[in-house]
Amino acid sequence: MATRPDRPGATAWLPDPDHRDVAHLREAATACRGCELWEPATQVVFSAGVVTGRVALVGEQPGDVEDQRGIPFVGPAGRLLQEAVAEAGLAREDVYVTNAVKHFRFSQSAPGNRRIHATPDAGHVTACKPWLAAELVAVDPDVVVVLGATAAKALLGPSFRVTRERGVVLERETSRGTKRFVATIHPSAVLRTPAPEREQARAGLVADLRVAASALGDGAAET
Ligand code: URA
Repeated sequence: MATRPDRPGATAWLPDPDHRDVAHLREAATACRGCELWEPATQVVFSAGVVTGRVALVGEQPGDVEDQRGIPFVGPAGRLLQEAVAEAGLAREDVYVTNAVKHFRFSQSAPGNRRIHATPDAGHVTACKPWLAAELVAVDPDVVVVLGATAAKALLGPSFRVTRERGVVLERETSRGTKRFVATIHPSAVLRTPAPEREQARAGLVADLRVAASALGDGAAET
């Protein structure tokens, strides 16, 4: 995807290669003007969780609540995700949480009106990718869980289809060697599923997270 001239991408804001630990990346990202999303957003929402975690969960972008609090996955989708992670047997101390895009994209009909989530486009994902790539190098997780289509596009390529390839361990070459990825649906998709089928959608998410837990190879999923 070509970078638009008004979207220079995050590269120019990355710290020098000797200072690309998560703390430095988080600080540097506050200055990022790699795309236009920084301006209407309240703040950059970088990541949360354990920077030595063996599992990285990668979502789409912060939502309204996350934009206000500056922490990913603290709204309704985040609560569902947290429960699903626990149910799948993943320990909190193993989990790092982040997003493909670090600012909230939304539409708003008038100031003060409700802010409506807008899916980031491929250019936003490309512009933000240097942050995601750098944090995954820094954290160096054993397994990356890709939550939904936007994260899948960022990490597994534009032709990847979550519905076709979810819940299996995929191996991909990265700058840190061969890494394992597991794709699954986004927790917001569970919340959007109408009541009779919602429980099944939730169970599917938990089952896919169990695959990620099993991929750690230490019986984490059996706990
Ligand atoms: N959805 C996401 O993808 N990320 C968040 O942080 C919150 C909701």
